Amino acid sequence: MNSRISLKAAAKINLYLEITANRPDGYHDLVMILQSIDLCDRVDIRKIDIDAIQVLCNNPEVPCDLTNLAYKAAALLQETFPSVGGMEIAIDKRIPMGAGLAGGSANAAAVLVGIDRLWDLGLTESQLCDFAAQLGSDIPFCVGGGTTLATGRGEILSPLPDLTDLVLVICKPRQIAIATAWAYQTFRSQGLLATSQIRDENLSSQIVAAIASGGESAPTKIGRLLYNDLERVVLPEYPEIAELKNKLLEQECLGAMMSGSGSTVFAIAADLDRAQQIAEAVRTDAIDVWVVKSLTRSVFDA
Ligand code: C5P
Repeated sequence: MNSRISLKAAAKINLYLEITANRPDGYHDLVMILQSIDLCDRVDIRKIDIDAIQVLCNNPEVPCDLTNLAYKAAALLQETFPSVGGMEIAIDKRIPMGAGLAGGSANAAAVLVGIDRLWDLGLTESQLCDFAAQLGSDIPFCVGGGTTLATGRGEILSPLPDLTDLVLVICKPRQIAIATAWAYQTFRSQGLLATSQIRDENLSSQIVAAIASGGESAPTKIGRLLYNDLERVVLPEYPEIAELKNKLLEQECLGAMMSGSGSTVFAIAADLDRAQQIAEAVRTDAIDVWVVKSLTRSVFDA
């Protein structure tokens, strides 16, 4: 039996994020369209002889203790399955943090998938998603990935047709990290649900239809329908992010939007050449930029 496994764990963007209700448990009901992108961490899991979970990361800002979602994922499976022994989890971090790209969630999903394979647990994707949902709202999506409609807290998933070859420019203001809980709580405390402008527009059905339509015109249609309710909280508080989005929209792109609770803003480009031009136009010392394509999976062999 193998004693180690190396996996890639992909970031996600939100092509759509609508907050539809405040929930009594403090969370929010959402309609989201999530897309895996080719910006990946590498997660190496190695069996060790002592009964411990050791997390290592090349980025010193990542906590390696039991607050790390990858640690929590390992601990959950260890508690549930006595056969799961000690392990070292080494994370090579490329996905920025506090970015709205679900980097921590992607690491946790890779750990669930990796442990299942290393210890031959035989879990189905649906069982892995049940464990993932106990750890965080975005983690079930990160187990499977691709292009997905997510509702409820974000854990009820309906796969959509794969968007292959969607070309994206991902821009992260280096100094701005945003806490997801802050963004949602501010949305609630400001009563923004009551003043939603898109309530009756059925925008989510339109973007689902655009994705399902496929073909060459799909990116153009999707670009016009991008939406994120959390921009209403984050952009007024962080004018640098609003400025970055405007700068992207001034380029020849098909649409631009903040991902999740920010601080990443992305643009859809017509092709790779155009994406490189957009990237050069917005890249500064303060803004990290990646040109990436969509992926049809989120955890795969490294
Ligand atoms: O589920 P997770 O721990 O990733 O969520 C982080 C925070 O984001 C939660 O503590 C909550 O404040 C907020 N959130 C929310 N509604 C959701 C998902 C997350 O309010 N559907």
